[in-house]
Amino acid sequence: MNISKAQTSKINSIDFDKLAFGKTFTDHMFICRYQDGKWQDPEIKPYQSLTLDPSSSVFHYGQAVFEGMKAFKDDQDQIWLFRPEENFKRINRSANRLQIPEFPESYFFEGLNTLLSMDKDWIKPGKGNSLYIRPFVFASQASVQASAANEYFFMIICAPVKSYYTGGEINVLIAEEYSRAANGGVGFAKAAGNYAAQFYPTSEALKDGFQQIIWTDANSHQYLEEAGTMNIFFKINNTLITSPTNDRILDGITRKSIIDLAKHSGLSVEERPIKVQEIKDAHQAGTLEEVFGTGTAVVVLPINSFSHQKQVYKLPKETPLANSLKEKLLDIQYNLAEDPFEWRRGIN
Ligand SMILES: Cc1ncc(COP(=O)(O)O)c(C=O)c1O
Repeated sequence: MNISKAQTSKINSIDFDKLAFGKTFTDHMFICRYQDGKWQDPEIKPYQSLTLDPSSSVFHYGQAVFEGMKAFKDDQDQIWLFRPEENFKRINRSANRLQIPEFPESYFFEGLNTLLSMDKDWIKPGKGNSLYIRPFVFASQASVQASAANEYFFMIICAPVKSYYTGGEINVLIAEEYSRAANGGVGFAKAAGNYAAQFYPTSEALKDGFQQIIWTDANSHQYLEEAGTMNIFFKINNTLITSPTNDRILDGITRKSIIDLAKHSGLSVEERPIKVQEIKDAHQAGTLEEVFGTGTAVVVLPINSFSHQKQVYKLPKETPLANSLKEKLLDIQYNLAEDPFEWRRGIN
């Protein structure tokens, strides 16, 4: 792999206490091109702008997928990744669905490990500090022909982050009009267009005071699926319930880790279709104890209220289960606890 180092580091100009999520990037980036039928020329170079032909197919047809993962530093300055092989497998599942050639595992891990060891000073120790890692692939072929491209870039960029939400209530709207994904579509993939399609409904919801939308199935709007960047869990009568993954829902890595942690602590967990009516009934009966979202960016995020058919349903202020699962997960991620599931991967 070709490596060129930045001549000077930007790190001293960054205020690590005032980081807006995903707006500050480290000194280096990983880049690899797909040409002549193969991935080639993996390279690490100073973080910089790209030059692309205006006809590059990603601008016209949105052939692009991405991942979101984090690196953590413990008090001994050791860097850890959390289940990175899951992100690697998922970016290739997403790529396959978008007719993008799969990226080789050896390039992915060599690029990632080298990048992290070069930019390791950007990862601050302590719970709440982490490095958000954004691998992505896009079609760079110069052509407006509406077909799969034959040239791509695979890149990794990194952003030091603190928490995703900086306090305040999280009130969500249950979707009744718009849909995020359809049967047979690309909902399960981290395809760029899935996110673009959510911006309009989400900004409309924000005007009404909702920070997120909980998407329902496109056919009937009766079943709860997931939020914009989180999977969703409901605790009813001491049982944790979440929708099963399918071709409309992202198979979240935090989601499956939370399921394992909850089962490990003896809680009963059900992965099954869950109707909006069921949570409204449980709310009415006083058995809806907690609702929370899970995702790499937010970790575990308690929801304060949900709204459906213009009625607002307030949720209990105390969220002991969400808090304890969050701490258990963070303790594993920051090497503060045993890792019974062997989820941590050290970076040299
Ligand atoms: C649509 C969607 N659902 C769920 C998640 C949570 O997935 P993960 O836990 O792997 O970050 C994300 C974020 O990656 C997402 O974008």
